[in-house]
This record gives sequence, C-alpha cells and structure tokens, in this order.
Amino acid sequence: MRIAAATQGSKSAVLCLPISLVLVAFLAHIGRLSGRSLQVGDEGVAVRDKKGNQIGSIHWIELSLVPETYDVAELRVKRRDNRLQKAILVPMQRDEAVINRWSGSARFWEKHREIIRHMFAPITQALVEEAQIGSGQLVLDVATGPGEPTLTLAELVGPQGKISGVDPIPEMVAAARREASRLELRNVQFDIAFADHLPFPADTFDAVVSRFGVMFFPSPLDAVREMLRVLKPGQKLAFAVWHSAERNPFHYSLSRVVDRFVHSPPLEQDALDTFRFAARGKLLEILIQAGVTAPAERLLQFTIHAPMLVDAFWALRLEMSKAREQISVLSPEQLTELKRQALESISEFSTDRGISFPAEVLIISGAKPR
Ligand SMILES: C[S@@+](CC[C@H](N)C(=O)[O-])C[C@H]1O[C@@H](n2cnc3c(N)ncnc32)[C@H](O)[C@@H]1O
Repeated sequence: MRIAAATQGSKSAVLCLPISLVLVAFLAHIGRLSGRSLQVGDEGVAVRDKKGNQIGSIHWIELSLVPETYDVAELRVKRRDNRLQKAILVPMQRDEAVINRWSGSARFWEKHREIIRHMFAPITQALVEEAQIGSGQLVLDVATGPGEPTLTLAELVGPQGKISGVDPIPEMVAAARREASRLELRNVQFDIAFADHLPFPADTFDAVVSRFGVMFFPSPLDAVREMLRVLKPGQKLAFAVWHSAERNPFHYSLSRVVDRFVHSPPLEQDALDTFRFAARGKLLEILIQAGVTAPAERLLQFTIHAPMLVDAFWALRLEMSKAREQISVLSPEQLTELKRQALESISEFSTDRGISFPAEVLIISGAKPR
C-alpha cells in the first residue's frame, strides 16, 4: 500500500495501528517526505522522532481507513499519556523489520514454549533424522527463537556433545537462556546472531538445523553459504519450512477468519513470510546453488496435537501469529464477532483429547562437500 504526495492541500486520516501508540496522521503540505512515496508492506516503516529515535513501527494499515494515495509529510503520534509528539516515517531495512516483528513476539513464544515444543516435536524429530544428529555431536540451531529445537536436542547430544542456538533477537535469546538455566543444562549455549553472520570458526559443527527460520532470512542463499562454512566437510544441514497454507489448518483456521475482517495488502514476491518456501523445490534450489551435495526434500505429513480447549488455543494462535497485530485495527464489536467465528473454525479440529490438525512441512537437507 502506498502513502504518497499530498500537494493539493492538507488531508488527515486516523490510522489505528498495530503498535502501542495510536497514530494520527496529519498530512501537511510539504514535509520531509514530500514527493517521495512509501510502501507500507510486509517490511513496514519505522516511526521516528525528530532526533531519529525509533518510537514505533507500522506493518499493516487498514486500507479502508486511508483515503487514496497521498504524501505523508508529518505525523503526530498520540502516546498513551495522550501527549502528541511529532514523528516522521522512514522505510525500514529488511533486518530492521525482522527485528521489530520478532522482538514483539518473544514474550508470547516464551509464554507458550511448552505447547510449541509439544506441537512441533515431530518436526524436530524429522530434522534429527535428516541431519543425522546423535550423541556426542556438536550441533548448531539457527533462528532458535526462545530455544527450540536446541533445548530438546541438548538431551540427544548428551553431556559429551554440545548444542549452540543463535537468534538475532536479544529477547528471544534471553528467553532461551532462562529456560536452559532453569533446566540446568550444561551443554547448551545461546548467542545473538543473524544467520548470515555466524560467530563460529569454519568447519566447527557436525550438523546444522533450522526450524521455521529460513523463510525470514533476507538472503537465504547467503545464510545457507554461511551455515555450510561452519559445518564440517561431509556433514549435513536440514531445514523445516511450512508446506502450503491450504494444507495447514493450523494456520488457516485462524487466518481465513482474520481475512474476512482485515484487509492485508498482497505480499510482495519473496516477502519474508511464513509460506515463502511452501512451493516444492524452491528452497532446495537455493541449497543446490549454495553448493550442497546430496540435496533432498521430503514432505512430512504429521499431526499437530494441542492438548487444550478451543478457547485457550485461540489465545495461543493469536499471540503466536501476526494476526495479533492485524486485528488491533478492529472495533470491540468486530473483535467479538471475529472471535466467535474463529472459535467455530477451530472447533472443527477439536477432539476429546484437544485440538488436532493434519499438518504438512517440507524438510530440506544437504551435505557440505568433502
Ligand atoms: C518462527 S520463529 C522459529 C523459532 C524456533 N526455531 C521454533 O521453531 O520454535 C522464527 C525465528 O527466526 C528468527 N529470525 C528471523 N530472521 C532471522 C535471521 N536473519 N537470522 C536468524 N534468525 C532469524 C526470529 O527471530 C525468530 O525467532
């Protein structure tokens, strides 16, 4: 969506935005962004104060609230204390956008860590098999979030082995470290790092894995090359990515309902999105380009089992996903109706043991040439 030049006079629009601030956009005649257009897509824009400090971000805007295309010259940001503050919009870099998105999610992923570990355990198992992880090995988990699959694999590699988890979000790494220390694990280490700049020497690890991370890497090719660098020759890396949305009611039982209420701009090609690598062969091609040997892709069909009631599952899914931000533009009445419809949709997968979804994930792997 575009916010572009208003040269024909001031306009204003109230934008309810998915941040703790409520933004009131005052579109003055000419301002710092006059004549330039801003794309508010998946990467969003940063909202900065006049000194350049970031005070918020915009990822989605409810299209119907925004009259046509115009220039944003100046924003006034209404804070929680009701004070107005001047602000400007600056397009975000891809890495910056990722940091914004995931630092906001960290506390929810930490809160739901146990159920997430349980629901995705079959994927962890598939990664273990594909990367041939065993006792005594040195293993790297990239994009570990609040610590999975690192924490699960710690037991598998045992006291003679060691597992390192990396994630660029300090809040995620802090959450992972908290759990490792609660569990008194001595063979894990968590570091803050992007996938394409790993803080390890070449030829260090016996295996490298990443569960639901690679779709968010700005350059997956650079990341795979970097992971190959730190892998020992002949050893394997393995990734888990979601297969198509239509095959995964875990996602669509909520997203289809949210789409009825919130307009989301169509994703740009290759956007950093959950289903970026849903097409078969797409990530595999990147591994081949990076120079792996024995490239392989397999479809993992399994069941996501969440032993909980529908209501609790709705809260979990909302907090884990971008729907949390998307629905912040809705009125209380719309929210009530959305929740009613979402509960109905999730109930289709309710069993006497909790919620059960058929699920499909692609497991992509390859080895470092000897
Ligand atoms: C969906 S979460 C997956 C967390 C965990 N691996 C799991 O399966 O529960 C995606 C993670 O990717 C991380 N991430 C995003 N961009 C990254 C990058 N460029 N390099 C490494 N990790 C990244 C995020 O911080 C987030 O923790």
